[in-house]
Amino acid sequence: MAGCRSWLFFITVCSVGLLGANAEIKLTIPVGRLFTYELLRETFQNDFEPLSKLYAGRLYDDPMIFKCNKQSFPDLPEWLRFTQRHPYDNGFLYGTPTTPGKTTVEVYAVNKRSYETTRQIFVIKAVAETMLPYQAEFFIKLREIEKVLPSTVQGEIKQDLQKLWDTEALEIVNISNALDRGGRVPLPLAGHFEGVYVKVGSEQHFSDCLLKTLTVEHERQCTAGAKVKIPGGCNFCSIPSNCISWCKTELFDLTKEEPTPPAPTVGSGIIEVEVDFNPPESPPSRDYFPDYIVTVIVPLVLALILALVLAYIMFCRREGVAKRDARTDQIQLYHHHTIHGNTDELRTMAGSRGASPPLSTLPMFNYRTGEGAPPLQSDSPNIPLIMAQHDPYSDTLPRK
Ligand SMILES: *[C@@H]1O[C@H](CO)[C@@H](O)[C@H](O)[C@H]1NC(C)=O
Repeated sequence: MAGCRSWLFFITVCSVGLLGANAEIKLTIPVGRLFTYELLRETFQNDFEPLSKLYAGRLYDDPMIFKCNKQSFPDLPEWLRFTQRHPYDNGFLYGTPTTPGKTTVEVYAVNKRSYETTRQIFVIKAVAETMLPYQAEFFIKLREIEKVLPSTVQGEIKQDLQKLWDTEALEIVNISNALDRGGRVPLPLAGHFEGVYVKVGSEQHFSDCLLKTLTVEHERQCTAGAKVKIPGGCNFCSIPSNCISWCKTELFDLTKEEPTPPAPTVGSGIIEVEVDFNPPESPPSRDYFPDYIVTVIVPLVLALILALVLAYIMFCRREGVAKRDARTDQIQLYHHHTIHGNTDELRTMAGSRGASPPLSTLPMFNYRTGEGAPPLQSDSPNIPLIMAQHDPYSDTLPRK
């Protein structure tokens, strides 16, 4: 499998730009294999103070955080992840590309001491590569993702798994944090770790050791929950923290996988000529006449009737003054008119001083001669107490 190993050499790194301020780093990686890139704080530190080492003779060791995203997108591409445990640690870009293609990733480093920023651009080109038909996933309980991503640790883990698989031709396909797969954040105590899943693949069929995970006995032991030991002769872990959890081992035989159903054929988007186009039926017509009657005609008729009733009351049922006068008792009418006349007289008298004596006092004296009037001869209740000689209604008074 020299071809696979040659990928390591195929990953070419070329920096452009002397100080790296806007360096573009080109990487070529195979599809379906793990890609890891360590963002070294040291290189970014050089970008912040490129000459400090030269003149001051010292290099700062500033805390730094990284912000990574696909160029002109808010986030990283789907397959790529970034992790950095602490501002004093290096960051890691890692992931497994699934389709060939070119991705441009921007990495901004923020210096947490001076708040300067610097940028690096990565052009990651994923090229097609054959799938590894046999894959297996292992869970390493006593590890954290940042501790596994450095290439030396990856090498150690790979060595153990090569022995377990009984082949040299082994490639790491994927490494993922157990927290990304539903794991729990551990207690902040010594001896508690997040856990890491490592997926490896090979052209070689699974070894006898690996096939033991498919046995009924293995399943029974693991569901019982007891602490299951790796069967004798299969335990190859040289460093305790790299030991795998035997029960969480999973094998994937991609050769047995059903071929994916063919993609649906895409038509031209134009309807065929023979097919007649049937426009949808228009909805049945609705009779709006009853609605019209209820909402327009009925209120209109009611309003008309009301108007007619009102008009009849106002114009045809009115009593004229003459008609009312004819019906009224003569003595009552006379009394009414004298009150009116006296009021008018008093009003005119109030207007000027030298007004003639009021007619209303006529029965008491003659206003021309000044003589007092003779007392009334009659005690009839029909004759008003105050009588005007020039009264226009005097002739209407009832006669004896
Ligand atoms: C790698 O693991 C991550 C996390 O489980 C998953 O999302 C991703 O699809 C995996 N990639 C491949 C190529 O299996």
